[in-house]
Amino acid sequence: MQMENLTALCKRRGFLFQSSEIYGGLNGFWDYGPLGVLLKRNVKDAWWNDMVMSHNELTAAAGAPGTYEMTGLDCTIIMHPQIWKCSGHYDLFHDFMVDCRETKRRYRYDHVIGRWVAGRRQTADGSHQQKVFVTTMETENTQTALDEAALKFFGLRKKDIESLQWEGGITPISKLTSFENVLGPDAKHAGTLTEPREFNLMFKTTIGALGGEEDVSFLRPETAQGIFANFKNVCDSTRVRIPFGIAQIGKSFRNEITPRNFTFRSREFEQMEIEFFCRPDQSAEWYKFWRDKRFAWYTQMGLSSEKLRLREHDADELSHYSCGTADIEYQFPFLQPGEFGELEGVAHRGDFDLRSHMEGKLVKEGNELVVEKLPNGQPKHRGSGKDLSYYDDLTKERFVPHVIEPSAGADRATLAFLCEAYQADTAPDEKGEPQERIYLKFHPRLAPVKAAVFPLVKKDGMPEAAAEIYGELKKHFSTFYDDKGAVGRRYRRQDEIGTPYCITVDGQTLQDGTVTIRDMDTLKQERVKREEIVNVLKEKLN
Ligand code: GAP
Repeated sequence: MQMENLTALCKRRGFLFQSSEIYGGLNGFWDYGPLGVLLKRNVKDAWWNDMVMSHNELTAAAGAPGTYEMTGLDCTIIMHPQIWKCSGHYDLFHDFMVDCRETKRRYRYDHVIGRWVAGRRQTADGSHQQKVFVTTMETENTQTALDEAALKFFGLRKKDIESLQWEGGITPISKLTSFENVLGPDAKHAGTLTEPREFNLMFKTTIGALGGEEDVSFLRPETAQGIFANFKNVCDSTRVRIPFGIAQIGKSFRNEITPRNFTFRSREFEQMEIEFFCRPDQSAEWYKFWRDKRFAWYTQMGLSSEKLRLREHDADELSHYSCGTADIEYQFPFLQPGEFGELEGVAHRGDFDLRSHMEGKLVKEGNELVVEKLPNGQPKHRGSGKDLSYYDDLTKERFVPHVIEPSAGADRATLAFLCEAYQADTAPDEKGEPQERIYLKFHPRLAPVKAAVFPLVKKDGMPEAAAEIYGELKKHFSTFYDDKGAVGRRYRRQDEIGTPYCITVDGQTLQDGTVTIRDMDTLKQERVKREEIVNVLKEKLN
């Protein structure tokens, strides 16, 4: 599947639009259209239902070391600035970036890649031999992008490509010792990239009218910290006992240097996060349980297991607080063959977060986490001073719980489900001629529209009967009504948005009260009595 085909379909059929498009768009921000909002809501509802609502706290789930409870929260996007100082985001949530002095563009340092190439450069004063390191951002077809950049730089035409001499393989610019002969991704001249600099990814905002330094706060870059900040409130206001998880779905914001790949890396996105609190001596087992449970969820929701992988982080990749992290990754079609992109991270966070919010920002000293101090011995960032430990009244022990965090992106999951759903085949049209058919094959729980109702023709009482059926179905499922054009074209319009069932009211409906139900996958039709449609669809959709 070509990514351009999916992005075009998303725009054409109202799944996704570039934000602020009428003003030229805003890079890294996306709006969900009428169908996109249904799809994304179904993804979030499926997650909330499967992780929180349908969880049975009385019976140990398969693979779990015991029973556990689940509850939810909905915290604010702007929180006390001290939260981000103690969590480490204020000091550490950085990416390195390079600027181009010529084009004034900014790139994420670790995303710029390139290759050495030599050739004769054609200029107004003649031609001369030159060697440069041409670059591009990591793309679906890097060598093609490098070919184009090199042809432009050397002033050559496509047919002259053979005259260029490539050296070595494709390499990230981070492996170079100097940028002197590097041609920036959009530059005309070599040597215009700056040295890499740190850039904090949190969006700043000001609270209140005065707007002094004291009033600066941040849009949350993750939903997790609201959960830690409310840990004591949840323990005090409910009867949850450890082990238990607190789930939250909500917007997060990161001022990504190079947002790209459709919604994959956006500046505003939604997360679906669980912070699971457990006894330190059981945390390794709970980590494995959540890692495997979350991986299985994606396959249950329709992602093919060949395109998914679970990747345990190497020790040097782990965050400063983590004793283990696995990424659940998907082979998105915009990546190079064999490459995977992160869908969700499942992290063992130890007691880092709760202790940081009690004691102040922690740093690792040897194998210990200690409060980071200023040269004068004062804590660098003070904690809340509140006791966030947990008292187990059965074992009479007090401890700071360990945390396992399955952290998923609602937009990345939605994008993966869209990529997986996109199918093209041929199917006969009304005249029996084979026609290309594009359809989205979602898991029925995710399909934005579950059923469409068509009157075969706009006369003989068919529209009235179809309207009645439509009204009845709408009480149970998201349903579409369509009476425009030939019925074959109406089927195709529904296939393209992934509607699994189309119900047609025809002449026979008026005689014997039956309709046809057509299955998008098999293209088979069956006749069903009007009064049975809801139950038949419920059964099929489950
Ligand atoms: N609390 C941990 C945390 O936020 P993360 O790996 O930075 O961990 C978790 O983010 C998930 O959030 C990612 O796996 C991804 O699905 C999603 N995510 C992160 N940054 C994103 C971005 N810029 N655009 C879209 N989704 C993003």
